[in-house]
Parts: sequence; structure tokens; C-alpha cells
Amino acid sequence: MLEKFERYPLTFGPTPIERLERLGAHLGGKVELYAKREDCNSGLAFGGNKLRKLEYIIPDAIASNADTLVSIGGVQSNHTRMVAAVAAKIGMKCRLVQESWVPHEDAVYDRVGNILLSRIMGADIEMVDQGFDIGIRESWEAAIADVKAKGGKPYAIPAGASVHKYGGLGYVGFAEEVRAQEKELGFAFDYIIVCTVTGSTHAGMLVGFAKDGRARKVIGIDASFTPAQTRAQVLAIARNTAELVELGRPIVEDDVVLVEDYAHPAYGVPSQETKDAIRLCARLEGMITDPVYEGKSMQGMIDLVQKGYFPEGSKVLYAHLGGAPAINGYAYAFRNG
Ligand SMILES: Cc1ncc(COP(=O)(O)O)c(C=O)c1O
Repeated sequence: MLEKFERYPLTFGPTPIERLERLGAHLGGKVELYAKREDCNSGLAFGGNKLRKLEYIIPDAIASNADTLVSIGGVQSNHTRMVAAVAAKIGMKCRLVQESWVPHEDAVYDRVGNILLSRIMGADIEMVDQGFDIGIRESWEAAIADVKAKGGKPYAIPAGASVHKYGGLGYVGFAEEVRAQEKELGFAFDYIIVCTVTGSTHAGMLVGFAKDGRARKVIGIDASFTPAQTRAQVLAIARNTAELVELGRPIVEDDVVLVEDYAHPAYGVPSQETKDAIRLCARLEGMITDPVYEGKSMQGMIDLVQKGYFPEGSKVLYAHLGGAPAINGYAYAFRNG
């Protein structure tokens, strides 16, 4: 589906799929759980889902003759860390706006984890006192204008690399990759679990799996706590992406399956249930999920299995999208393990 698009390789290649045997057994053994390890996809600053997206965005940045990538996220944004890493790798400068998206308990929240890594990689970081919003932000537009005013050539990458014309392509590629792996495995997955916030990961998967009739088998677990905005953004990105890849069928509202029950109490704030899911997965599988994103989708998958949402015998693929560096900003929540 992606042959006509230029791709700048930033990842190692196809990501492994592994069985979560002990977690599955712990949850009753009625469904088979697997994880696709997007968190292990690259040597660039611990990797993660943004790299698949950026592989299809960077050719456009290079073609535009830009010298500075400009992006935005919360203080512990994984996305801005990935943009900083890519800028270093391709020899561009990096300007990052880090907004105050999360009320936090840890005194070192703005010193450790993702933001620490972005600083080490040489990004020019601006801290901004604005709350959570996945839309286009004035602070980001001001940063783009500032780079220009200072004689630079900015290339604008929105939050999560999502509301960009090519933002959805990378995860179309994920679906194609899963299809190829299914041939080798000798079975197909019945459900795919994905954490959804700015929307292009889910949107790309939805379009990619629409090709074989599985759009609604992609189960988005909302971690934004602003699900109406996230749902609308997934739909808009999916429609744009479907047109780009010439899917040949319309994407309708019902194609976006977004479960809203696990994002509470706020974006970036883990509930007791989220923390329990992070511990359970870590203790049974040695797999680390974070309190902002993957811990919430892990919590969602666990709860849906326990509720019998997936029919007996289902094969469920959890997309592990990365994000572990942020856990350093949550040391207080896990001070007793
Ligand atoms: C680790 C992790 N998981 C999930 C997501 C959600 O992906 P998206 O913003 O494409 O919805 C993000 C980024 O926002 C992320 O960094």
C-alpha cells in the first residue's frame, strides 16, 4: 500500500511479535495474548512508535531544504525525544516546545526521562505553561515563526507527528508487516490493541487493516481523557491516509473503535488500576509499560480480557508502542515497587 511513498529508514526493520504466555495464563488462558514490540524498533534513543511515522515525513523535510525540525509535546513527550534523535541522526537542528500537559508529583519530572534525553541530544528546549491539548498550538506556531525570524529554515512536525499529511502512513506499514508475519506464524490476529492519543498510530493501523476487513478489530484504548477530540482526529487522519494510499473504500465513523474507560483521572496521570497493570505485566513478562500511554492500554487489554470482551480462542495482539523512558518521572508512584 506504500510503494509510491519515499521512506527514510530510521528503524531496524520488522519488529518482533512475542507471546505473552504468563500474562495470558494469569488472565484465565481463554485468549492468546501477543505483543508486537514497537518499543524495540530502533537504536535511536530507545525507539518507539514515532519512528515509523517519521520515516515517511523526513523525506519531505529533507526535500524542503529545512535545517531545523520544530515540534511540540508535553514535558515527558516521547515524540519530542524521537524528533530530537532523528534531527541528530540526519544532521538538522531541533527546536522543541514542551508544554505543561501533566500535573505531576515528582520534583525531577522536568529533569529526567524523555526531556533529559532530548537535552543530551542537543535540542533547543522551550518550557511553556500550557495545559493538555492535542490540537495545533500557538506556542508551536510561535516557535516556527521564531526559527524563521532568526534566519533558520523550520520544518514543522505537529504533536505526535499526527496532523501531518503523511502522519498516518507509517502505521499502514505496521498492518502490512503484521500480515506478512501472520503468513509465517500460520494464523491471523483477531484483535489489535493500540493506545490512542494524537491519533495517527490508530488511524494508520485502521487504514492498513481495512484492506483485509479488520478496521474495526483495531481496538483503540484512549489515554487522552479528551476522547471526543481524539476520536475526531483519528477519523480525519484515517480519511486523509485512506485517500493517500488509494484504499478504495470510504472510512466511516464506526470504523474508529475507541474505548474510553481507562484514561482516568487525566492524561499523564495513572490511576491505581493503571499502576496495577504496569506491575502485573512487569512481574509476569518483564515487559515495561509507562504510566502515560502503554500502561493504560495494558490496563484496558487486561480488563477487556477479564470482562470476556474477546471470544474464547481469540488471538489478541498488543502493540507495544514504547514510552518506557517517561517512567523515570513517576518514581514516587512506584517508590514501594
Ligand atoms: C508510547 C506511546 N504510546 C502511544 C502513543 C499514542 O500514539 P498517537 O499519539 O499516535 O495516538 C504515544 C504518543 O502519543 C506514545 O508515545
